[in-house]
Amino acid sequence: MKCITIVGARPQFIKAATISRVLRCTPAVTEILVHTGQHYDSYMSDVFFEELEIPQPDYHLGIGSGTHGSQTGKMLEAIEAVLIQEQPNLVLVYGDTNSTLAGALAGAKLHIPVAHVEAGLRSFNRKMPEEINRILSDHSSDLLFAPTETSVKNLLHEGIPENKVHLVGDVMYDAALYYENLADTHSQILSKLKLSPKGYILATIHRAENTDDSARLHAIFQGLMQVAQEIAVVLPLHPRTRQALKRENLFSKVSEFLLLIEPVGYLDMVMLEKNARLIATDSGGVQKEAFFYRVPCVTLREETEWVELVEMGWNCLAIPSNPTWVKTCILNCLDQTSGVHPEVSFLYGTGKAAQLTVTILIQH
Ligand code: UD1
Ligand code: UDP
Repeated sequence: MKCITIVGARPQFIKAATISRVLRCTPAVTEILVHTGQHYDSYMSDVFFEELEIPQPDYHLGIGSGTHGSQTGKMLEAIEAVLIQEQPNLVLVYGDTNSTLAGALAGAKLHIPVAHVEAGLRSFNRKMPEEINRILSDHSSDLLFAPTETSVKNLLHEGIPENKVHLVGDVMYDAALYYENLADTHSQILSKLKLSPKGYILATIHRAENTDDSARLHAIFQGLMQVAQEIAVVLPLHPRTRQALKRENLFSKVSEFLLLIEPVGYLDMVMLEKNARLIATDSGGVQKEAFFYRVPCVTLREETEWVELVEMGWNCLAIPSNPTWVKTCILNCLDQTSGVHPEVSFLYGTGKAAQLTVTILIQH
């Protein structure tokens, strides 16, 4: 079987690393890796290929940044050309970015079976670009690998036939288990930043609804600056957020209060997450990693597609409407480490999502 994997953005490199490792040990499969170039700075892309030992892409499309239509359109055209040349049996896409949608559409239009890893997530907020990408990618796919029971229900509710949907668990949980020890032995980030375990809050912000809305951006960063007067706040800064802070003339003020660092590689990120007193984030992946490492989490969004963590009380959803609310939610949750019931330990599978996915791909 010839499988073309499409990746392009940071979280997809991490997800693809887990499945590619299994695919490469499976003689029946040849994987061809296509990088759309959606993320291109070395700390948004190369570092993951090196650290996670992902093979160099067979095709690098070099699409880069752009408006949604332009970026997705260029990817669609370039991926289509690769698919026509390679004639694969399968297109494998991950998550909910513009690279995911372009890959799924290109495959579906050429009648090549499409497999979607991390299918069925819904925030039910169609203003999120990711929500449109998820829905369209799922409805273009032939094999849908759902990470949670809720995601399975969402797909069935939308009329996707049950035989296309497979509950396999979350490949990011596989990654968390696989790389945790490696992070312990390889990452020097805590000493480099002079941080002590549980002596800081880790924050990440990059979602368009927060960075592109001036009031939201001010509320979040002013709230975080107030928190930093009580406990150190470390924030690896996504390039989108760096630009937004500069645009709003907030950058220099924020850098006085928060420890702003460049985006970090995955092993350093795992180390920062595991040792944080609390994580404040708008990232999908980081919310779950907080749970994997049993660190309290505040999600600075109106809603989340990872609803289980909010329902069980691990993740506190805080709409970033004003600085005081952001600060209050974070400080109130600092010690909120309610015991995790044994049943929910396997909310995201057992760490075998990648193996299960590949087994089903081959059977198909
Ligand atoms: C994208 C995904 C989002 C995902 C995130 C992971 C879409 C619609 N969004 O958001 O779902 O959570 O990746 O991080 O696909 N930039 C750089 N260097 C880079 C990459 C981007 O400077 O290597 C800057 C560019 O100015 C670009 C902006 O960041 O315009 C946003 O990048 P883009 O890939 O469009 O969206 P993300 O916010 O990264
Ligand atoms: N991540 C990382 N370095 C960083 C920030 C995030 O390695 O500086 C990892 C994080 O641990 C998680 C993934 O990137 O595994 C999440 O990506 P991101 O927040 O960009 O996207 P999302 O999950 O929201 O789509």
